[in-house]
Amino acid sequence: MEKEFIDSIEAFVADSVKIPDQKVALVTSGGTCVPLEKHAVRYLENFSTGRRGALSVEQFLTRGYKVIFLYRDGSCFPYLTQMKNNQEKFLKNLIVGRNGRTTIDDHNFTKLIEEYKKHESSLLALKFMTLQEYLRKLRLVCLALQPLHKRAAVYLAAAVSDFYVPDDKLPLHKIQSSESLALTLERTPKMLGHVAQQWAFNAFVVSFKLETDENILISKCRLALSNYGHQVVVGNLLETRYNNVIIVTSSSVVNVNATSENIEIKLISQLYLMHEQFMTS
Ligand code: PMT
Repeated sequence: MEKEFIDSIEAFVADSVKIPDQKVALVTSGGTCVPLEKHAVRYLENFSTGRRGALSVEQFLTRGYKVIFLYRDGSCFPYLTQMKNNQEKFLKNLIVGRNGRTTIDDHNFTKLIEEYKKHESSLLALKFMTLQEYLRKLRLVCLALQPLHKRAAVYLAAAVSDFYVPDDKLPLHKIQSSESLALTLERTPKMLGHVAQQWAFNAFVVSFKLETDENILISKCRLALSNYGHQVVVGNLLETRYNNVIIVTSSSVVNVNATSENIEIKLISQLYLMHEQFMTS
């Protein structure tokens, strides 16, 4: 299983290395979950729909990147999520279509399918569910990206649990409900330092910072940059995450606001330029 997983990533990267100037982005997306039992019935969830990750993948693909998409099983998927949202309108239009009329929604749906088919071979999708599975796979993918040097970008949009129950403290069977439950959670070690300094030390690394208090957002982004020494932190607030983000580097803070289009279009076009600069630095 592990070997198959590593082989698939290494083959994808080896193909990309051969293509001159080919860039590859690792996009992580969706929330991790933490099991509370070994034969797990109950989990603690980190909230994330995976929409940010899925829409960002579409933008990387449009700009010529190949993409490894490490996503929470069942969360949003590039193109398919938008297709599902359009499905109802599409079905209505199908009936209209039989009478010989086409509409703009019908056109949107067909365009999404065409886009998906066009980019399918540039996309390697890998699933995770638990925190442990996410961290194990994140490490393997980052290590496999090393031969690409600066052509690799790591874009960490997944929502990763800061707390977990270590394996040796997990009860084997379902916790019984006859008594009240007191949970002791341990802090998950921060992995960003490993990503930026070891696993993907030569890549362009973008992490995310999610907060609910806007007064601390910029300072937390700056702190992450100084702690982990990577290139960019994208800051966002839970309530407004689809309307505003900030792009923070060691020398600048840029506000990005959504217009009528998805904010990921502007966000990825800015990061694209930064990655180009990084490659020539
Ligand atoms: O999916 P959506 O509903 O569209 O929402 C998008 C989003 C809000 C989830 C996304 O934009 C976002 O902000 N993702 C990061 C959320 C998060 O985990 O933030 P954090 O402050 O807990 O962690 C900051 C960074 O440290 C993250 O890049 C994370 O990958 C990393 N981390 C976290 C925990 C840990 N133990 N080790 C880490 O390295």
